[in-house]
Amino acid sequence: MGESLAVHCRSRWPDRPEREVRGEINQSLFDMLKAGGQPVASSCTAEAVCGKCIVRIVDGADQLSPTTDEERTVLEREGASVDERLACRAQLLGEGVVLSASYW
Ligand code: FES
Repeated sequence: MGESLAVHCRSRWPDRPEREVRGEINQSLFDMLKAGGQPVASSCTAEAVCGKCIVRIVDGADQLSPTTDEERTVLEREGASVDERLACRAQLLGEGVVLSASYW
């Protein structure tokens, strides 16, 4: 069992509190969000195809694994901005990550 790390999920609605989801080092954001009961959009099986799992990195981008060419190709196709990542490809490396999604 690895070290447990917290990720904070920020709602677009200011009156809703942030939710904390916990995961392990090198776990994908997708897997930890799913396990923590936080919804993540997807129409592929978390294999960097659909591009629907895009989340915005509000803080702590340096605590995520670097973007691979595979992920970058999907992000560019989807017109993602520089602060967005595929939840199924970004892996957690440390504390301090804050995420948001348009449907939270
Ligand atoms: S779940 Fe489909 S690209 Fe991430």
